[in-house]
Parts: sequence; C-alpha cells; structure tokens
Amino acid sequence: MELVPAILAKTKEEFVQKIKLVVPYVKLAQIDIMDGIFVPNKTWGTAVEIEREWKKLNVGIGREVHLMVSRPEILIKIFVKDNAERIYFHIESTDEPQKVLDLINQGNKQFNKRCKKGIAINPETSVAKIEPFLPFLDSVLVMGVSPGFSGQKFQKIALNKIRQIKKFNPRIEIGVDGGVDLKNAKEILSAGADYLVAASSIFGSKNIKEAINKFNSIEAE
Ligand code: DX5
Repeated sequence: MELVPAILAKTKEEFVQKIKLVVPYVKLAQIDIMDGIFVPNKTWGTAVEIEREWKKLNVGIGREVHLMVSRPEILIKIFVKDNAERIYFHIESTDEPQKVLDLINQGNKQFNKRCKKGIAINPETSVAKIEPFLPFLDSVLVMGVSPGFSGQKFQKIALNKIRQIKKFNPRIEIGVDGGVDLKNAKEILSAGADYLVAASSIFGSKNIKEAINKFNSIEAE
C-alpha cells in the first residue's frame, strides 16, 4: 500500500508548501477541491489556477483530484486534459452521476487520456446509491468523515461500506479518506481498502518521511 497525502490548502503558499513536503516520498498526491457550497469550507484557487500551479511545480509525481463541489461537471474536462490520474466526484453532489462519468469518458477520448473514474461516498450515504454505477467505475473513495475539514475522527461505518462495495464488485479499487491514522490503518486495509489517503497524520507529524514510511509498511491481516 502506498499512502496518498491529501493536499487541503487555503492559500497558494500552503498548496505549494504541502506538495513540496511530500513529493520526495510519494508517487501520487490527492488534491482536495472545496467550493464552500457542497462543503462548508473552501480551498485555494480555481481549477485553472490549481492546474497552472501544479504544472509550474513540475514535481514529477501524479495526482488525483477529490472534487467536493456542487457542480463537478464543470470541472471535469480541465483535469482530464491536464493528466489527472483519477477524478473523484461525490455521489451526493449531483443528480446525474452518469452524466459526470460520461464527461470523463468523453474527455479521455477527446484528449487521448486514461483518467480513472471515481465516486466518493460520505459516511451517511448508503452503498445502494452508488451500486448502479459500480460497473462503470475504476474506484470508490470511501469517506471516513463528513468532508470539509482535516483532523476529524474516523467513523467506523466506513469499514462496512468497504466490505459491501468489495462484495458487490471486487474489481473496484477502494481508497479511504478522512480520519485515517497509524492506529486504524491496519483495520481499514483489512476491511478491503486498497489505499489510504491522509492529511493530518502526515502534515501534523514531526517527521513526514517517517510517517509515510510507517503507513507504507502496514499490511492487511
Ligand atoms: C476531508 C478531506 C480529506 C481530509 C483528510 O474533508 O477530503 O482529504 O483532508 O484529512 P485528515 O486525514 O486529517 O482526516
């Protein structure tokens, strides 16, 4: 398992600083995008500004984007075009999930890319909501907290969701985000998660390299 750090930034400086801190130790970062509408918090930058800054940094690692916004459809193409490895949008954020998935497909065709399709699911949302879309997805991001802020406590209901999703469709790659720490990582991986996403356990630690290495050495039971 390779830990994926979540980059939740309120300013451009924080965005740049966090990316630089983790780049030596990871192959993939997750960019958190919040609009202050879908979640009660807002991250720095428009999609265009974020992409411009990412290119400028030229860090040589990949990134996935976690869209915590009320209209994910308007952001899809820019991230597909600019080589995001995966896009997650929230099932709770749209009445037309299939349309958003189609936009990723269209972008992949148009720009000759292979951006993975992902849906994120909040703790209070039942897996039944995403079940019809599982055959069309590469990944699901199971939230361990209500999205919006770092540093919240992991909700165990996520463990059942992981098991349910894997039962419905073992092919789907599952990421878990929110409240992940070195204490609960083994339990989450043992429930069937393929990878973990974390912010405060990484950025709040004194030694980032050591924290990432510790996560990476944890295996499912
Ligand atoms: C939840 C965000 C997460 C968050 C994780 O609102 O989607 O990516 O930054 O933060 P921690 O790991 O501190 O829960």
